[in-house]
Amino acid sequence: MSTSLFSPQSIPRLEIPTDALLVEGGAPISGTVRISGAKNAVLPMMAAAILAPGVSSIHNVPALRDVSTMALVLQALGIPSDRHDEILTIDTGNCRSLRAPYELVKTMRASIYVLGPLLALHGRAEVSLPGGCAWGPRPVDIHLKGMEALGARVELDGGYIVAEATRLRGAEIELPFPSVVAAGNHLMAAVLAEGTTALVNAAREPEIGALAEFLIAMGARISGAGSSRIEIEGVTSLAPTEFEVIPDRIEAGTYLIAGAMAGGAVRVVDCRPDHLEALLACLRAMEVPCGIGEDWIEVEGGERPAPLAVKTAPFPGLATDLQAQLMALAVRARGTSSLRETVYPDRFKHVSELVRLGARIQVENGTALIEGVEELSGAPVMASDLRASAALVLAGLVARGTTRVGRVYHIDRGYSGIEQKLAGLGARIRRVRE
Ligand code: EPU
Repeated sequence: MSTSLFSPQSIPRLEIPTDALLVEGGAPISGTVRISGAKNAVLPMMAAAILAPGVSSIHNVPALRDVSTMALVLQALGIPSDRHDEILTIDTGNCRSLRAPYELVKTMRASIYVLGPLLALHGRAEVSLPGGCAWGPRPVDIHLKGMEALGARVELDGGYIVAEATRLRGAEIELPFPSVVAAGNHLMAAVLAEGTTALVNAAREPEIGALAEFLIAMGARISGAGSSRIEIEGVTSLAPTEFEVIPDRIEAGTYLIAGAMAGGAVRVVDCRPDHLEALLACLRAMEVPCGIGEDWIEVEGGERPAPLAVKTAPFPGLATDLQAQLMALAVRARGTSSLRETVYPDRFKHVSELVRLGARIQVENGTALIEGVEELSGAPVMASDLRASAALVLAGLVARGTTRVGRVYHIDRGYSGIEQKLAGLGARIRRVRE
């Protein structure tokens, strides 16, 4: 019997984990949720450990797929690491390869963080070009121009960035956009360069401040991190260190929005309220009651919020990484909200899935107009990236019936135990495997 080319037997199976989250909407949530360490602070610190051969420890490291992927990138360089009780130990004493392979970099763009440290300490780095991402192109030209400005020869060979320098030398570098990962790479390259480097228009995100603190603990001389001008005086060597990661402001923001949507009173603890001011301003504008302590924030939800008009922007502006979740809140506002995305104008993959749940959203020229509806109704939806998936879970909390969020492996990149944390607040949520 002949088989058609398009028969089910001949369709290749994709090796993608098929976990989904089932969310039963309508259960009010309340209580306390502890915030884990920041993914986007841990990843550059793991790369920075390369700069100081020996054993460094990073505390408060969450169990995340991106952390495991970065551990695999380090392993590909010959660097073992081990995570136990939220402490990650990295032994960079015997770095045997200078190549971050395509197979890993294509799954996590932040792998490019090894470029600066490998180049600075070992004089050479080969890092696969990351390629596009779920919401469009994400160039790395700023990273490459920066390495060149510090004296490296950079070329592309077979899909790899190949950068070389005997010793980098300090320079004044003005970044055309305050890219977070580019700032991290510049910092890690400049700490061992000869002379002084000034980064102008540098990212001010708290994760860059935390990376600078980590490097300072290793013996680097850095001033101005957290402002848009960072100065680095190169040193000849760095020593391994022990460091605690800052709390994840995006995870905290996600649970605050969950509370605003489905609370009850929800308190996020072990967070940094000063890292969340832009989100708090949005919640207040939406008339969500907020209380703030030294390391906690509490919101009171349940009512349909007032509509919001806001745009994302580099820190201290509203994080693009909270845009999708905030949209899930705006979907039930008492009027029409507008969310303008200025960091990634195409980061709206969640819109069509929110519409499947009954949202009314139109996107034009990087702005989403969200006409608030009274009710959402549960449906199967598909996660397309990390923050979009979180937004769909949040919408599921308030949708009538069951929402099934597929491709949960995206969420596992950046939310540690999201179903346990939400269930701890009383949400009806569980993971299913097909
Ligand atoms: N850009 C360039 N050229 C470059 C680099 C960036 O034009 O060489 C532009 C991008 O096109 C974009 C903007 O600069 O318009 C910022 O993008 P970039 O890709 O540099 O962001 P990133 O620094 O690589 C970090 C976070 C992202 C977060 C963005 C924006 C990490 C590991 N990643 O990425 O986090 O969205 O900053 O705040 O820190 C996430 O955690 O879900 C996530 C995507």
